[in-house]
Amino acid sequence: MSDEKGYAFVESTKYPNISEPDQKLGKPQPPYEIPLEEGLPLINLPMPGEIDLGKYGLRQAIEERRSLRHYNKEALTLEELSYLLWLTQGVVTINKKRAVTLRTVPSAGCRHPFETYLSINRVAGLEPGLYRFVASTHQLVLLNKDETFNTKLTEVCLGQRQVATSAVTFIWAAVPYRTAWRYSERSYRYLYLDAGHVCQNLHLAAESINCGVCAIGAYDDDGADTLLGFNPPETFVIYMATLGKKASKD
Ligand SMILES: Cc1cc2nc3c(=O)[nH]c(=O)nc-3n(C[C@H](O)[C@H](O)[C@H](O)COP(=O)(O)O)c2cc1C
Repeated sequence: MSDEKGYAFVESTKYPNISEPDQKLGKPQPPYEIPLEEGLPLINLPMPGEIDLGKYGLRQAIEERRSLRHYNKEALTLEELSYLLWLTQGVVTINKKRAVTLRTVPSAGCRHPFETYLSINRVAGLEPGLYRFVASTHQLVLLNKDETFNTKLTEVCLGQRQVATSAVTFIWAAVPYRTAWRYSERSYRYLYLDAGHVCQNLHLAAESINCGVCAIGAYDDDGADTLLGFNPPETFVIYMATLGKKASKD
């Protein structure tokens, strides 16, 4: 292997090598969220202020976190799912004047270039299928009740068993123009850095409610984008993570 291919990305995104960003050219900024899919059911999640799942020490969560690939068959509650979504992409405030969101995770330039999709297998009160988190209103939209979706997702994740057995698999899609509007080609660095923060929050939030996570970086990009109906580079799958209750120790 040569380093050239990989470093070409770093080289091409150094300041002297990037284009003038659209923001500087006076172009309008893109919305902070994709439009709501018309005619699909919306599901209210327990609101963040109502979530009461106790307090777990941050240090303990960091020290005890391990990637987990074997899960208990127990379903997550809707409150637990709400908690995980809140701590990974929750919108704390919307600055209406600047039309930007402040969330529970940092993001370069406050651009928040992600949409969260969920392949749900075991969440009490939710039918299995594909959902999207509407972060601005803290709701879910049910996109697809296809019970075979998760099997197809497992295939595009190169057959990794933890996708098949997860209670829920998080699929983070990048909408690069949100960040590229401000940073042009350099934004591609930030997409991947931002995604790391999101998944780490998922790891720690999961640890605090007796769940475990396995990050998924090994997947067929084209297969994943086709399965989700994305049209890269406009939108593409950037990262995934499986999650479930910890298997009991006995
Ligand atoms: C960016 C990234 C991608 C990963 N992709 C996968 C994956 O596709 N499959 C998998 O089983 N583990 C994956 N992992 C989990 C790592 O294998 C795991 O973090 C590592 O073995 C260290 O173990 P620990 O998380 O328990 O500390 C990924 C982790 C990261 C950070």
